[in-house]
Amino acid sequence: MGKEENILEVRNLSVSFKVMDQVSHVVDGLDFFVGRGQRVGLVGESGCGKTTTLKAILNVLPRNAIWEGDVLFEGKNVREMGREELNHLRRKGAGMIFQDPSSALNPVFTVGDQFLTALRYTYDTKVNKKVLWQQALDALSSVSLPDPERIMENYPFQLSGGMRQRVCIAMTIAAGRQVLLADEPGTALDVTIQDQILRLINRLVEEKGLSVVMVSHSLGVIRESTSYVNIMYAGTIVESGVTDQVFSHPKHPYTKALMACIPKLTGAGIAEGIPGRIPDYLNPPAGCRFCPRCPMAEDICRKQKPPRTEAEPGHWVRCFCAEGVR
Ligand SMILES: Nc1ncnc2c1ncn2[C@@H]1O[C@H](COP(=O)(O)OP(=O)(O)OP(=O)(O)O)[C@@H](O)[C@H]1O
Ligand SMILES: [Mg+2]
Repeated sequence: MGKEENILEVRNLSVSFKVMDQVSHVVDGLDFFVGRGQRVGLVGESGCGKTTTLKAILNVLPRNAIWEGDVLFEGKNVREMGREELNHLRRKGAGMIFQDPSSALNPVFTVGDQFLTALRYTYDTKVNKKVLWQQALDALSSVSLPDPERIMENYPFQLSGGMRQRVCIAMTIAAGRQVLLADEPGTALDVTIQDQILRLINRLVEEKGLSVVMVSHSLGVIRESTSYVNIMYAGTIVESGVTDQVFSHPKHPYTKALMACIPKLTGAGIAEGIPGRIPDYLNPPAGCRFCPRCPMAEDICRKQKPPRTEAEPGHWVRCFCAEGVR
C-alpha cells in the first residue's frame, strides 16, 4: 500500500519493448513519488524513457511493451484495476498533456463534441447539455483562448498547435482531474508559445491545487515550475530531491555534468556537452547505466547497480561514488 500523502507512487518500474525477436530494456527499476498538490519534475535527455514512464502510469503502453513494478494511484495499483476503474482513472484521476499536441485530439470530432464526451464522464450523465457546454466555454476562456464559441465548433486541424495544447489543458482542468502529467508541454511549439503554456499550467495548478508531473529536457523549465525533481538517466532515476537543493548541490556525476553544460539556466537543451551517448537498450551495461560515460567510474560501478541512497536528508542518489554515499 502507498503512503497516504502521496497521490501517485511509481515503484520499481521496468519497461521493455519487444521489437522483432529482440528486447530493449528501457525503463530499469524506476521509483518516484508525487505528493498531493506537489509539482514534481522528471528531467532527462531524449530517449531516456520519460514518455514511456508517463504511459505506464496511465496503463496505456503499446502492445509490444512488457512491464513490471507498481504504479499506485491514491494507494490503488493501476495494474490491478479493471476496465471501469481504469476508465475512471484516465477520465477523472490523471490527465496527460501530450508532447505532440497534434496527436492528442481526435481529428474527426469537433472540439465541442470531445469536450462534452470528456465532461459527461465527469459529471452525472443527467446534467443537461447546456450546463456542460457552458462549463466547456468557461474552461476554454480560463486557458486564455479567444472566442471559445467558435473553437467549440472547430475541428482540431483548424487550430494551431498552441491552441490545441490549450484545449487539452482546458479539458484536463474542466474534467476535474487531480494529477496532470505534462509531457514537455509546448516543446513542439515556438519558444514564446511554450512560455505561455508553461505559465498557464503553473497558474492553473496553483488555482486548482493540482498535482503535476512535469517532464522536460530543460533544466530552466524544471527549476521554475517544480518543487521536487527527479533526474533520469537511461531509464533510471539517478538523483532526486527538493529542486533548489538538487540544483544548488548536485551529487550524481550525471547531474553535475548536466549543470556544467549550461552556463546559465535559460532553458537550453541538455546533453550536447556530455561526451558519449545513452546506452544501447538491447544490451545495456550490467552495473550503473551511466558508467560508460562517467569520469568517476570504478570497478564496482561496472558490476553492480548502485542502490538508492539518502546522501543527505531528503536528497537521494544512485551512485557508488557520490559525495555523502561512501
Ligand atoms: N513502442 C515502442 N517500441 C519499441 N521501442 C520503443 C517504443 N516506445 C519507445 N521506445 C523506445 O524507448 C526509449 C525511450 O523512449 P521515450 O519516448 O520514453 O523517451 P523520452 O525520454 O520521452 O524521449 P524524448 O525526450 O525524445 O521525448 C527510446 O529508445 C525509444 O526508441
Ligand atoms: Mg518523450
